[in-house]
Amino acid sequence: MFEKLVIKGGKALQGTVKLRGAKNFVSKAMVASILGDSKSILHNVPRIKDVEIVSKLLILHGCEVTYNSKAGILELDPENILSPRIADVDTLVGASRIPILFCGPLLHKLGEAFIPNLGGCKIGDRPIDFHLESLRQFGAVITKQTNGIKITAPDGLKGTKIHMPYPSVGATEQTLLTACIADGVTEVSNAAIEPEIMDLINVLQKMGSIISVATDRVITIEGVKNLKGFTHTALPDRAEAASWANAALVTKGKINVQGAKQQDMITFLNIFRKIGGEFDINDSGITFYCTGDKLKAIPLETDVHPGFLTDWMQPLVVSLTQAQGLSIIHETVYENRFGFTQALAKMGAKIQLYTECLGTVPCRFKQMNYKHSAAIFGSTKLMGADIKVPDLRAGFSYLIAALAAQGQSTVDGIDIIERGYEFFIDKLQALGADIDLIKN
Ligand code: EPU
Repeated sequence: MFEKLVIKGGKALQGTVKLRGAKNFVSKAMVASILGDSKSILHNVPRIKDVEIVSKLLILHGCEVTYNSKAGILELDPENILSPRIADVDTLVGASRIPILFCGPLLHKLGEAFIPNLGGCKIGDRPIDFHLESLRQFGAVITKQTNGIKITAPDGLKGTKIHMPYPSVGATEQTLLTACIADGVTEVSNAAIEPEIMDLINVLQKMGSIISVATDRVITIEGVKNLKGFTHTALPDRAEAASWANAALVTKGKINVQGAKQQDMITFLNIFRKIGGEFDINDSGITFYCTGDKLKAIPLETDVHPGFLTDWMQPLVVSLTQAQGLSIIHETVYENRFGFTQALAKMGAKIQLYTECLGTVPCRFKQMNYKHSAAIFGSTKLMGADIKVPDLRAGFSYLIAALAAQGQSTVDGIDIIERGYEFFIDKLQALGADIDLIKN
């Protein structure tokens, strides 16, 4: 069965949406639960595909998982953790990137792990070399197999000094999850410090870990013998919040995003205001709206935290197609995140891609022939079109482009959006979007 959305553009989105926990944190906290000797309880868990996939993987490893999707409460009991049948794990090949984070916890608990080949959004090569190098430094032995990797630790896992070649979110999480019950102290320099990582550190500290974070991106973990379960409320999804902000702006509407947190979105809010969007902040969330003034073009570079999050970039591109003048974006996190602009061009956007670094942030893709900079000439009228979702954030961007466009669009492949946007169809309908879900 496939599903697509037929969207009639031109309606201002108005109303309230509620955010729940961040996709890029919840799945990691679920993995951390394996490290505990007792049950963990996670609150504010959204009903998204990534949670479903990680739940399946945990269940295959003997973890008891109970999810109350309405209340958003997930209970995880790792007491009977076991090595699964490889054929069962194989069924999850290509489903997500999270399985790689099972390495450290499974090595500690079972002495071995089999990790299926990874999936996730196709926005670059997304290698796992930093993960594997970090695990090797702890003493892990990795054997590549056709359908995944086998990993063992014949002499146990020992604390070590690791310098990240780049502040990778996943590799930093890998190191944290491996170090907290490794033997001795681990120091990670050039670590990523995204809010989702800081919340994972909150969870690990609740479990009994000793972790300190210095201002120079150095994280020190003093290994302890055991960890217990945790009770925690996930931080809200700042990538989803920014997506709704752009939806309000391009449709000339007003959306109150309940649960959005200023502290994790300061960089986004500055940019949103610079291009002509406005927002009001209170204790329960942020209301984003269009002032009616013409939007302004800007130069922008994505970067690791506290820079502009790459996941904020794709929906922002849609807003910039409506801004007067030339906007320049230099994407420095992924080498291949602009493929989605082809469909926007089909809808009438004027976007030119460049292999050059159009910015000053030091970038790994310099002179490497990756089209990782974009010039957006605005404003251009968007016209409805038939488009297919290539990745998660691009998918949401297509929805808001179609909502702002003149005429009708058909957006295919919307199951990808379900990986990270809870109840997005219901939310769009509640905001007044003219959409129809077609199932075949
Ligand atoms: N990288 C390597 N080798 C590695 C690991 C990463 O070269 O071993 C490179 C990647 O190819 C990429 C860069 O380092 O060019 C950054 O990757 P990072 O490891 O930081 O990203 P990730 O952990 O795979 C998470 C989020 C992404 C988000 C990035 C950056 C999850 C499940 N995914 O990915 O979220 O863009 O951090 O903040 O947490 C999304 O939600 O749409 C999404 C793609």
